Amino acid sequence: MVTAKEIVDMYISSFEKKGHKRIPNAPLVPENDPTTLFTSSGMQPLVPYLLGEQHPQGKRLVNVQNCFRAQDIDEVGDNRHTTFFRMLGNWSLGDYFKKEQLTWFFEFLTKGLGLNPRKLYVSVFQGFNDIQKDTESEVIWKQLFSSAGIDPKDRIYFYGVEKNWWSRSGLPQDMPTGEPGGPDSEVFYDFGPELHIHEQSQWKDKPCHPNCDCGRFLEIGNSVFMQYKKQEGGRFIELPHRNVDFGGGLERLLAAVENKQDIFQTSLFQPIITSVENATGYTYSTHARQMRIIADHFIAATFIAAGSIKPSNKEQGYIVRRLIRRGLDNFYEIAGKDIAGIIEQIVEQYKDTDPELANAFPNVKSILLAEEQTYKQTLHAAKKFIAKRYKIGDELKGLTEIAADDAFALVTTHGLSPSQIKSLGFIFNEQKFAEKMKKHQTLSKRSATKKFAGGLADDSEKTVMGHTATHLLHQALRDVLGNHVHQTGSNITSERIRFDYNYDQNLTDEQLKSVEHIVNDKIRENLPVHFEMMPLSRAKETGAIGLFDNKYSDKVKVYFVGNYSKEFCGGPHVDFTGRLKRVKILKQENIGHGQRRIYAVVNPKS
Ligand code: SER
Repeated sequence: MVTAKEIVDMYISSFEKKGHKRIPNAPLVPENDPTTLFTSSGMQPLVPYLLGEQHPQGKRLVNVQNCFRAQDIDEVGDNRHTTFFRMLGNWSLGDYFKKEQLTWFFEFLTKGLGLNPRKLYVSVFQGFNDIQKDTESEVIWKQLFSSAGIDPKDRIYFYGVEKNWWSRSGLPQDMPTGEPGGPDSEVFYDFGPELHIHEQSQWKDKPCHPNCDCGRFLEIGNSVFMQYKKQEGGRFIELPHRNVDFGGGLERLLAAVENKQDIFQTSLFQPIITSVENATGYTYSTHARQMRIIADHFIAATFIAAGSIKPSNKEQGYIVRRLIRRGLDNFYEIAGKDIAGIIEQIVEQYKDTDPELANAFPNVKSILLAEEQTYKQTLHAAKKFIAKRYKIGDELKGLTEIAADDAFALVTTHGLSPSQIKSLGFIFNEQKFAEKMKKHQTLSKRSATKKFAGGLADDSEKTVMGHTATHLLHQALRDVLGNHVHQTGSNITSERIRFDYNYDQNLTDEQLKSVEHIVNDKIRENLPVHFEMMPLSRAKETGAIGLFDNKYSDKVKVYFVGNYSKEFCGGPHVDFTGRLKRVKILKQENIGHGQRRIYAVVNPKS
C-alpha cells in the first residue's frame, strides 16, 4: 500500500521530470504577511509571482505545503474536514496551461497512484458575467476520459462561482482590488452511491452530484486557472500571464488510494485514532466525532507549537489555545486523562514527511501539557467565581442559570468560550450575551485600531519619530545586508524602537556601525517625508517595500523618505528626517527562526 510519504515523493518527482523546481514548504506562520495568521494554501507565498513578478526558480514550481485553515474549525468532525493538512502544489507562472495541467494530474492519479479512472468525476466553470464558460477544459476532460476507455457523458459537471472559482478571498465579489483569481476545475473521487442512498441518508431523495454533501464524492485536487485580477470598480482584467495554481490535499489523496471514505481511517490517521481509543477507553465506532476533533486539533496544535507559537490570548497563540482547549473538551467528554500518548503518536505518524517535528517534540509536548494545566486552572477558577457569586457549593449539580453579564465575565476575564461555559453546567440568556459581546468587540476593535496603527504603542511625538526611524533603519539594513532582508515585525514606544528582520547571523560591529551611520546621514540630509495613495499594482511597480498592511484596501498608502526609502505604511511620520536629530542602535538579539532584532533610540541623551 502506498504511504503518504510515497505519494509526496511520487508527485514531486513526476513534476520535477516535467521541468518543475521544488520550492520549500513555507513556515505555517507567515514571516511577513500581517493580513493572515497562517499559511492556508501553497499559493500564498507565491502571490507576487502570480501577479507577474519573476520567480527566481523559473516558471514551473512544485512543492508540498503544510496548511492550516482556522475557518474550517467548526467543520471538523465529519469524514473529511481537517484544519491542518498538507497540500501538494504545482504552478505554471505564465508557462503551460489547461491542456498540460489537466492531463498531467489525470495521469498522476491514474498511472502514478493507480486510481481507477472510473472512480473519477470532474467539475468545470460554468461562466460568470464577462468570464466565459470553460469549454476548453470540458474538451480536454472529454478526451482524457475517452482515452481511458470511459464515456465522458455524466463525468463532467458545470458549476458557477460558488464552486468553481478560486481566490484567497473566495467569490469574485468578495475579492479586493488587485487580488488574483480565476476559474478552476476540481477532481472528485467516488466512494460509491451507497453513501447517498442508504436508509438513514438525509440525501436519499435528492439527486447526487460531485458537490453533494452526502460524503460519496471527495474532492482530491483543484486546478485553478489563475488568469484574472480584480480591478477598481469590480471588473476583471487579464493578468500579465495565464497561470496554473494546482492544489491537492495529501490526506484526501491517501483516502482515495486506500479507498477509505473516512480520511480518519487511513493509514495516516488510524494509529492516532487508536491512541485516542487507548487514552479514553471508548471506541471510534461509537465516538467518531469526538475522536476526529481530538486528532485534528492536536495535530494542528502540534504543528503550530512546533513553529514556537505558545498558547496566548492573541493572534496565532489564541488559535492554538482554542485548538488545544476544544480538543481537551472533547477528550474529557469521553473520559480521556493523559494526552501525552496521543502527541507521541502524532509525531510518529508525521515525522517521515516532517522530520523537524521529531526534534521539536519535547518542546511541543511541554507546551501542550502546560496549556492543559492552565486550562484546568481556568475551569476551576471559573467554577469558583460562579459558586461564590451565586452562593452555591463547588460541586455543581445539574444546570445553573447565570446572568448574561456573568457569562460575559467568564469569556472576557477567564478566556472561556460560550460552549465551554455551557459544558461547565451554566446556562444564560444567549441573546443578551450576544449583544454584550458585540458591543465589547466593537469597542476593543476601535481601541486596537488606534493602538496598533503603524505598530505604535502611543502617538506621542517620540513614537512618531521612532516610526520614521524604522523606515530608515529598514532601508539601511537592506543597503548593508542586501535586498533579501526585510522587516518581520516592529514595536515602537516613546522609549525605544524594536525592529525585527530576517537574517541568519548577528551583524558584525562594523555592519552595525554602517547601518547606524547611514541612518544618521539621512537624518542630516533632512529629507522630506510624504505619502501617496495609489493602487497596489502601481505601489508594487515603484518598488515599495514593507509589510503589506493595506493589501486588502482599494488603494495603498506608500510613504517616501526623500528618494531614499519607499514603504507601504499607514503612518504617521515626521515631515522632515532632521527632526529625529540622531538615532543610536542599542543592541541586537537573535530571536530564532532566522530572525534578528535591533533595539534603537531616537534622539538619545548621550
Ligand atoms: N489555491 C488553490 C486551493 O487552495 C489551489 O492550490 O485550493
